Amino acid sequence: SHPGHEFCAAAGGDAAGCGGGGDGTRILIKGGTVVNAHRAEAADVYIEDGVVLAVRPNIPVGDDNVRVIDATGKYVMPGGIDPHTHLAMEFMGTVTIDDFFSGHAAALAGGTTMHIDFVIPVNGNLTAGLESYKQKAASSAMDYGFHMAITKWDDEVAREMEVMVKEHGINSFKFFMAYKGSLMVTDDLLLEGLKKCKSLGALAMVHAENGDAVAEGQQRMIDLGITGPEGHALSRPPILEGEATARAIRLAKFINTPLYVVHVMSIDAMEEIAKAKREGQKVIGEPVVSGLVLDDSLLWDPDFTIASKYVMSPPIREAGHGKALQAALSSGILQLVGTDHCTFNSTQKAFGSDDFRKIPNGVNGIEERMHIVWDSMVETGKISVTDYVRVTSTECAKIFNIYPRKGAILEGSDADIIILNPERRFVMGAHAHHSRSNTNVYEGRKGKGMVEVTISRGRVVWEDGVLNITPGSGRYVRMPPFGHVFDGIEKSDAAYRSSLRAPVQRGKAAA
Ligand code: URP
Ligand code: ZN
Ligand code: ZN
Ligand code: ZN
Repeated sequence: SHPGHEFCAAAGGDAAGCGGGGDGTRILIKGGTVVNAHRAEAADVYIEDGVVLAVRPNIPVGDDNVRVIDATGKYVMPGGIDPHTHLAMEFMGTVTIDDFFSGHAAALAGGTTMHIDFVIPVNGNLTAGLESYKQKAASSAMDYGFHMAITKWDDEVAREMEVMVKEHGINSFKFFMAYKGSLMVTDDLLLEGLKKCKSLGALAMVHAENGDAVAEGQQRMIDLGITGPEGHALSRPPILEGEATARAIRLAKFINTPLYVVHVMSIDAMEEIAKAKREGQKVIGEPVVSGLVLDDSLLWDPDFTIASKYVMSPPIREAGHGKALQAALSSGILQLVGTDHCTFNSTQKAFGSDDFRKIPNGVNGIEERMHIVWDSMVETGKISVTDYVRVTSTECAKIFNIYPRKGAILEGSDADIIILNPERRFVMGAHAHHSRSNTNVYEGRKGKGMVEVTISRGRVVWEDGVLNITPGSGRYVRMPPFGHVFDGIEKSDAAYRSSLRAPVQRGKAAA
């Protein structure tokens, strides 16, 4: 690939004329079970120039220039798409340890071939934020997209949002209802943001915790002399997540625009999403791996290095929440799994050794997500293999409007593919991971089902435990506005307006 390749899509519309970085490589994956969200079938997959050209049984090998990979007894699936990461993010006085190279190494080794990262504006300025993230992403080794955070409000921000959507391929904006004094927004900003998102066809996302109450809760813990990592969990209980989730849902309903709730960590928040969905509201809930499988007990570990690893927001909850979130995921109340990969090493975590409020918030997961969801959800019979593909890849591609180029193995899809061996076992931990961190919140975790091969846009980048990746080979994926989550919004607005004009008839119709 050529210099500046990651923005080929930005320059050329939809990567037209860029060849997808496949370098003429031809691969035939034979004998596996090809799994898409809509069905699993015995089929071969033929890839050329970074694109899937054929999916059917018994594709003949053809000529010598085709590399044949035997997938007998294995699952051939779309590469994972992580909807929620923070690579090279400046946060809480430091910068996450994984950048767009080490983060991509970790992702690819774990079967994730695309992620969507959050651009943080610079002093509230969106253009400066995007420039900064373009620089950060210059070392990328796989495809990525951007969401953008909104941290202040004025006419310029509103104008820039339009530019981001129309010119820069961003179709989602995140509002932090927590982190008072830094990223937090107030309800009036959230309302303005929801209105603007709606008019642009961009999806509004929220970090849902009541930031004012969190500040109060933190002070309460400090006053009680609780300064260790356990104070983090105690200071921001599930009710504060439930409250903010409910508030964001109601404001989105009032504006009539779809809402995406990131990192749903508690039963309280999940129940608000379930209730809104039951009432027909377009709300998407994203659990993250840490929330699904960890519990808060380790925040009480007397070893600060261990306890502080688990500090993220909203906090990892008491045992019971994770199981409920898994059940919600298996029944469709929650729709797709992210990680919130936001990694700090033990030296960075130690900034808060005498005050939990200074522990940089965040956990790893970009490398572990695909394996943990397989082991904890498919191996235990909670979801099918097709649902696995849906929650780890397809749903994300659909929500962010890049399906079926991403999130599927269909003719014409990008050749982002993994081969998973359901019989192989794994042990996770810092000894084996590709993150730059010296710690791992899944240290020692064992399970079944291993991604043996990762193919990124037609190139084998992970095989036999070896990575073969190139900095700068990743490509920016533009995400167009007005995805399917916006279907019906105009019609329901029209129905609402006509109901206002005819209150008497409405009363009669009901009778
Ligand atoms: O603790 C977390 N989640 N850190 C990353 C920033 C965020 O809130 O997503
Ligand atoms: Zn290119
Ligand atoms: Zn967040
Ligand atoms: Zn996050």
